[in-house]
Amino acid sequence: MADATPEARNPERLELEELTSLQPGLARLMPEVGARFWKCFYAARAANWPLAAWQLRELRKLLRLGEVTRPKYTGDLEDFIHNDVEPMLAALEAHEIGRFEHLFHDAVDAANDLHRRWDKPWIVWKLPDHPPPDLDLTPRE
Ligand code: HEM
Repeated sequence: MADATPEARNPERLELEELTSLQPGLARLMPEVGARFWKCFYAARAANWPLAAWQLRELRKLLRLGEVTRPKYTGDLEDFIHNDVEPMLAALEAHEIGRFEHLFHDAVDAANDLHRRWDKPWIVWKLPDHPPPDLDLTPRE
């Protein structure tokens, strides 16, 4: 292999412009949003209320991170948080699975409406038909 040139070394310090270009946009955040939503749903089904609520609060943080990196989506993201995420959190807090599931399916429709609105009609998220394999959903004290 050829000798590494000094330019090829890992940078010790990045410029602000370079750091800015590294910030994740929605295309990078949304797969994480989908995974948290999936985990939230099946945690609620398993009556693991703290885990379900935690997943949803982390999802909200990801949406707010998207507002910082891609401000043009702020209005839609805040509306979704207010109209969909917060009512679901309230249903989880009240341990009301029927209300939660109803709100969850409405939220999936609302998210896919937003994908259409932002000219990505081919992005249609759907809930996987099985629980996430990497988490034990059994409720704990
Ligand atoms: C729980 C709610 C949501 C889920 C599960 C979800 C899921 C997804 C998924 C899976 C993708 C495709 C990512 C990939 O490339 O694999 C995506 C993309 C996208 N989503 Fe969402 N989404 C949600 C809410 C929202 C909301 C509230 C907005 C509001 C603006 C939004 C706007 C977008 C946009 C604009 C893209 C395209 C990314 C880009 O081109 O930068 N989504 N979403």
